Amino acid sequence: MVNEFEIKKQICDIGKRIYNRGMVANNDGNISVKISDNEFLCTPTGVSKGFMTPEFICKVDRDGKVLQANAGFKPSSEIKMHMRVYKERPDVKSVVHAHPMYATAFAIAGIPLTQPIMPEAVIALGCVPIAKYGTPSTNEIPDAVSEYVQYFDAVLLENHGALTFSDSLLSAYNKMESVEFYAQLLYLSRQLGGPKELSDAQVQRLYEIRRQFGMTGKHPANLCPNNKEGKPSCHNCGGSCSGKGGCSTSGASEELVKNITAKVIKELGL
Ligand code: 13P
Repeated sequence: MVNEFEIKKQICDIGKRIYNRGMVANNDGNISVKISDNEFLCTPTGVSKGFMTPEFICKVDRDGKVLQANAGFKPSSEIKMHMRVYKERPDVKSVVHAHPMYATAFAIAGIPLTQPIMPEAVIALGCVPIAKYGTPSTNEIPDAVSEYVQYFDAVLLENHGALTFSDSLLSAYNKMESVEFYAQLLYLSRQLGGPKELSDAQVQRLYEIRRQFGMTGKHPANLCPNNKEGKPSCHNCGGSCSGKGGCSTSGASEELVKNITAKVIKELGL
């Protein structure tokens, strides 16, 4: 039997962490937790997630309809996005949406997080694709995210932010931290002349470790549609995960051409 009040307190604690780490500004971001097949707790719309108390938290059914909300509180305007993830991923127990600075900058620049640069990010996330832009609160975002939910536990939302989901609230939050840390490292290493990527063999060993640990959730190492078809998956194709449901190499070759052109220009001192 879940203790609803305890979960509401945990949601408030995670809201504080997201706010205190600068992963949201103003009233941005939202958090939800599945407590039974047809009951979900979620943050209310239009409040700072850093200053919530348990009576702020709303309860909705699987269609996002209000089951309980205190006066003055309505469920998050992004509840449809959360509900779509629960519908399509029965293993998911919590969804977190935030606008962390670096991850959101990548989402705005249209650059997915695909370069294998550190073991933890490769093991925990694989790569992080970008779901195409949708107007907040409409079905456009759930529809765009839906393309990726079977293959990833973390998705960037184009020109908007990031979405993570997992089998517990803490794990969904941790994935958001990992996405932001990965994005920050990728950004900084690009400023330092570009990251030295892990080799294909190193990435494969990390994937193997993930399999051995029996880690929960979805990861492109196991599920990338390209991988299933025997084609290279995210990290070893160096691809940008911009294709329907997974990777495509077109972004990768564009990126390669850009990098080579920049190097040639530099070498020639132009
Ligand atoms: P809500 O306050 O309605 O949850 O919206 C915040 C947000 O970040 C929308 O993308």
